[in-house]
Amino acid sequence: MSTPHGGMEISTMPPLLLERLVESLRDGVLVVDAEHRIRGANAAACLLLQLPEQPEGLRLEESVGDYRVCLLVDGCLDSGTAVERELSDPLDVRHVLAHAVPVVDPATGTTREVAVILRDETRVRRLETVRRDFVANVSHELRTPVAAIQLLVETLLGGALDDPGVAHEFVSKIGLEVAHMGQMVAELIELSTIESGRLPMRMEPTAVTELVAAAERLRPLADERNLQLRYEVDPSTPHVYGDGTRLGQVVRNLVHNAIKFTPEGGSITVSARRVAESDTDMVEIQVTDTGCGIAPDDLRRVFERFYKADRSRRREGEGSGLGLAIARHTVEAHGGRIAVRSTPGRGATFVVLLPSFRGAATTSPRRRRS
Ligand SMILES: Nc1ncnc2c1ncn2[C@@H]1O[C@H](COP(=O)(O)OP(=O)(O)OP(=O)(O)O)[C@@H](O)[C@H]1O
Ligand SMILES: [Mg+2]
Repeated sequence: MSTPHGGMEISTMPPLLLERLVESLRDGVLVVDAEHRIRGANAAACLLLQLPEQPEGLRLEESVGDYRVCLLVDGCLDSGTAVERELSDPLDVRHVLAHAVPVVDPATGTTREVAVILRDETRVRRLETVRRDFVANVSHELRTPVAAIQLLVETLLGGALDDPGVAHEFVSKIGLEVAHMGQMVAELIELSTIESGRLPMRMEPTAVTELVAAAERLRPLADERNLQLRYEVDPSTPHVYGDGTRLGQVVRNLVHNAIKFTPEGGSITVSARRVAESDTDMVEIQVTDTGCGIAPDDLRRVFERFYKADRSRRREGEGSGLGLAIARHTVEAHGGRIAVRSTPGRGATFVVLLPSFRGAATTSPRRRRS
């Protein structure tokens, strides 16, 4: 039962039931007496405060590394009211909210013990950060095209409309900016659909040559930039089990990136082969380029939404940094993995690992591209 100060009176619940109940809670519960001796702690509290297994009888100062727990207990004992404080670690990795409640003796009305309830809020905080970053990123990505369109429209209305040549050029530029925004919105919708697991996948045995061939649509772009685009598919590569269109899109995204980040005269190689991984047959598809590569610090982050390495190198309006996030989600939805390795200045290799379709025919050499 609660007291007017938000404290608790000693329960009349059967002790065994109460003990089981407290032990099964996800929140940590720690009870400390006025001398800072631990009277009890459930498993969650032991985990959150890194207490020894049976902490009963130990003094708080000796068993809890975080001195803020002692301050919290003192605050509660001194005021006789509930006190709350956050116990985030210095690296901001773990967020624990601690709520100390006085346990009041109903006979004397005095506070004899303090119950500390600990809630691990790390996941909630991380989601909040992701959401905040997401909104900030979307706004940032939209600001540039919106500002450009605004400027172009103002210039047109300010007189440029009367000059057909200039007007045509400006309207084309508006069209490009709108296309960029449209692509970003389409990518965002796709990403959220994949993330929510609502994206229908047509799972079927798919020849790797089909996936690799998806990159062929980019050949005109590679030619335009004087880049060699070649394929090396091992004929013994088994089929993969997955959605050919979606997986083809992954390969195309990777090749598109390779084209964007490889200077003229370079080359891009798409290769595929069978690999065995702990007794499972997998298919490995690699996209290797001879481009600018990716700095070690960026390597871990390129699969994050909106992440773009070395922004200074990039031209405004080019890409939103969503392609690899979509690729990762698609590959993972197939039970596969995607990774990257790179030596800055010497190029990058993206590796997609997909489960093979057991028993499916291997890639037919007839359909092999080279
Ligand atoms: N082959 C590559 N070589 C060098 N850097 C790369 C390569 N592929 C990706 N990156 C880096 O990773 C970042 C994220 O790539 P991602 O495909 O997600 O976004 P994007 O290509 O910039 O935009 P989008 O794919 O949405 O059009 C790129 O901006 C680039 O900095
Ligand atoms: Mg991309």
